[in-house]
Amino acid sequence: MQTFNTIADLRRYLGDCRAAGRTVGLVPTMGALHEGHASLVRRSVAENDVTVVSIFLNPTQFNDKKDLERYPRTLEADCRLLETCGGNVVAFAPSVSEVYPEPDTRQFSYPPTDSVMEGAFRPGHFNGVCQIVSKLFMYVEPDRAYFGEKDYQQIAVIRRMVADLGFRLQIVPCPVVREESGLALSSRNSLLTPEERTLAANIYRVLRESIALHGTVQQTHDYVVTTLNAIPGLEVQYYNIVDGDTLADVTTWDAPSIVGCITVYCGATPIRLIDHIRYK
Ligand code: PAF
Repeated sequence: MQTFNTIADLRRYLGDCRAAGRTVGLVPTMGALHEGHASLVRRSVAENDVTVVSIFLNPTQFNDKKDLERYPRTLEADCRLLETCGGNVVAFAPSVSEVYPEPDTRQFSYPPTDSVMEGAFRPGHFNGVCQIVSKLFMYVEPDRAYFGEKDYQQIAVIRRMVADLGFRLQIVPCPVVREESGLALSSRNSLLTPEERTLAANIYRVLRESIALHGTVQQTHDYVVTTLNAIPGLEVQYYNIVDGDTLADVTTWDAPSIVGCITVYCGATPIRLIDHIRYK
């Protein structure tokens, strides 16, 4: 598998691909790849002639320096996993100075998608996501870009950015990949002890139970928060039941698309885990 470290080399390669009439898929990642990422890559391989997987731990989307420091870095293992995905896959693994030769001062604002939930608890996070994703879209000019629905809110923000800046590409949301226990695959799971992994599996279990409750929005919300907070080692940071498109809070089940988005602190460190469930 070819790996490009500079924008110029990547562009040269993609220029040749386009001249030959090939379509290009982009899978943006921050590395520490797992089966969830592999599912995005396989989907892109199936739908495009060439797949670019960017591996870049983007500093501008981390509001918490400690979170950035402890984020797993596993480039060699990442490349090995990509080799197993088949198809024509190349990696783009630039340095921070390649992507940000100057500080990126651009400001993106797409409320309420980027101001609620992760946006409220991680100020500047989605601004950093828009900075890097817009740069990747400009370097790669993909026909399609693949994002995991685990980061449900991120997809909503990126859709707004694509509409705002007029990028001509298709955003392809891909379903969450889960362990057998129900725990959503995440690069951060590698920071959990085996006991904490078992603990974390309660998140999706309780979310699923909340569907079966058939309660009001408030009752459903309270059930999730109270049940998870009663489990030692778990602490809910927020649980919002929102319109699936705008991400604005809902108080009834009337909207055509309704999703519950949760962030939970898990274990001793603690590790921040996010997940969601679709009610409608
Ligand atoms: O979802 C992620 O891993 C990151 O937010 C992304 C989209 C690769 C941007 O750094």
